[in-house]
Amino acid sequence: MSEEKDKVLSVNNLVVNFRTDNGLVHAVRDVSFDVFKGETLCIVGESGSGKSVTSKAIMGILAKNAIIAGGNIMYRGENLLEVSEEEFYKIRGHKIGMIFQDPLSSLNPIVRIGKQITEAMLLNSDKLKLMYNDLISDDLIHYKNTLAKMNIAINTEKKTIDGLRDEIKHKNYKNEEDKKRDEALLKEKEEKFKTFEKETKEKYENEAKVLKEKLNETKKEAKQKVKEYKKQVNEEYKQKVENIKRNYLNVNNSDELAKKKAELKQAKVDKMDKLKITKAEAKRRAIQVMKEVGIPEPEKRYKQYPFEFSGGMRQRIVIAIALTASPEVLICDEPTTALDVTIQAQILELINRIKAERNLSCIFITHDLGVVANMADRVAVMYAGKIVEYGKAEEIFYEPKHPYTWALLSSIPDVDSKEKLEAIPGTPPNMIYPPEGDAFAARSKYAMNIDYRKQPPYYKVSDTHYAATWLLDPHAPKVEMPKIVSERIRLSLENAKKLGDISDQVENQTT
Ligand SMILES: Nc1ncnc2c1ncn2[C@@H]1O[C@H](COP(=O)(O)OP(=O)(O)OP(=O)(O)O)[C@@H](O)[C@H]1O
Ligand SMILES: [Mg+2]
Repeated sequence: MSEEKDKVLSVNNLVVNFRTDNGLVHAVRDVSFDVFKGETLCIVGESGSGKSVTSKAIMGILAKNAIIAGGNIMYRGENLLEVSEEEFYKIRGHKIGMIFQDPLSSLNPIVRIGKQITEAMLLNSDKLKLMYNDLISDDLIHYKNTLAKMNIAINTEKKTIDGLRDEIKHKNYKNEEDKKRDEALLKEKEEKFKTFEKETKEKYENEAKVLKEKLNETKKEAKQKVKEYKKQVNEEYKQKVENIKRNYLNVNNSDELAKKKAELKQAKVDKMDKLKITKAEAKRRAIQVMKEVGIPEPEKRYKQYPFEFSGGMRQRIVIAIALTASPEVLICDEPTTALDVTIQAQILELINRIKAERNLSCIFITHDLGVVANMADRVAVMYAGKIVEYGKAEEIFYEPKHPYTWALLSSIPDVDSKEKLEAIPGTPPNMIYPPEGDAFAARSKYAMNIDYRKQPPYYKVSDTHYAATWLLDPHAPKVEMPKIVSERIRLSLENAKKLGDISDQVENQTT
């Protein structure tokens, strides 16, 4: 599922299980998706499909009984599942921010809003450190990317071999010859693997060595630059102090002395401002983001406690807190389900505006396809821990291929009549015993025999659109999507065309 575009985050073959007294819960089963710069990926699916577990895995905040049994989460050349805790801490809540469903649970009820917004800024307040990290960041990512590529290449090959070994173990062979042939193939692969691993390492290690040398050089230069900057700031300060002292050399009336004192103090503040994010600066920035997220009278609100805010305003505060760190990726897990409909629309609009202004990448989680239509550039449809369909928003809405996507589309209220037309019959499977084949088969009237036995692969619909359903197999019978879905698609395309015609007319009139 890849496309060479500006990829910011990519989740590859993620598997998450939970240990419970009743057995292992298979919550996320081999999930892969990419998040691109400035785009919103919506993850949509019924309750329990694994949406929150996926996003918590990205944030590194899974419950204690979670086992990450496979896959990787790549962010700027780092596998987030492998980075040190210290590094993860830097990324979580800074480069990747998250907004939850219930704003109250992410705010501390006994701490003033202002303090909660400035907290993170003051934690990372050393401007010299920030400057250093900025200067080395590109080379560091380059280097780490190369190492990651090497590990992924080796691990992928290893997994293929493990898979083959597993298959041989569990397969019911009709004759010994077939088994022997497969075993020989496995042996050959195992033997070739050692050379493959050695060659891959050699290939990447040479590249990595060159990049490491470059990185070390850049680090040296960066250190020097930071040192010079600090020296310059100190010298400027010294100069200023001398000037002030000279200006007030012979004064001794108290007014003038107070002025001198104030000037000296200001000089010190100016100096600190250049080295650290001071409390005053943090407050200034906090009030600025409070304005950005649409909080009226931010100076007054700054001093208030969470209970003094309405639900919608509290969610704005939570968004403000996430934004203070200037994240590159914002994960929103059902951020509006606890709010009433009008407030919901305002928060969605706010998220869309901020996303555009800051060129953010968003992962937006919802069970509501209506919300998806307003937010998504791309959509991942999740069912029973798997992504069953993935594509650009228009591909999912106008050319859906998986029966589960059809069911979701038929269950959204009609835009005109507002009535919910067809609830999805049945219930999702028990994830301790996930079905062997297409997990939706038991609820789908389009299910074929093979759906109960074998997991469908991802069939490519377009370069950006994939669906895991046997219906796309060339041998499958031709099946049309439900009338209600095709009818809605026809209507909305017609409406879109009408709107287009109207705006064309308006344009023609005005030009
Ligand atoms: N700590 C845990 N221990 C055991 N099972 C868990 C745990 N956390 C989540 N699960 C299970 O993992 C599966 C996926 O849960 P998840 O919270 O990701 O669902 P979701 O898609 O976010 O649903 P919703 O729309 O209700 O938020 C569910 O079956 C859930 O019961
Ligand atoms: Mg959830």
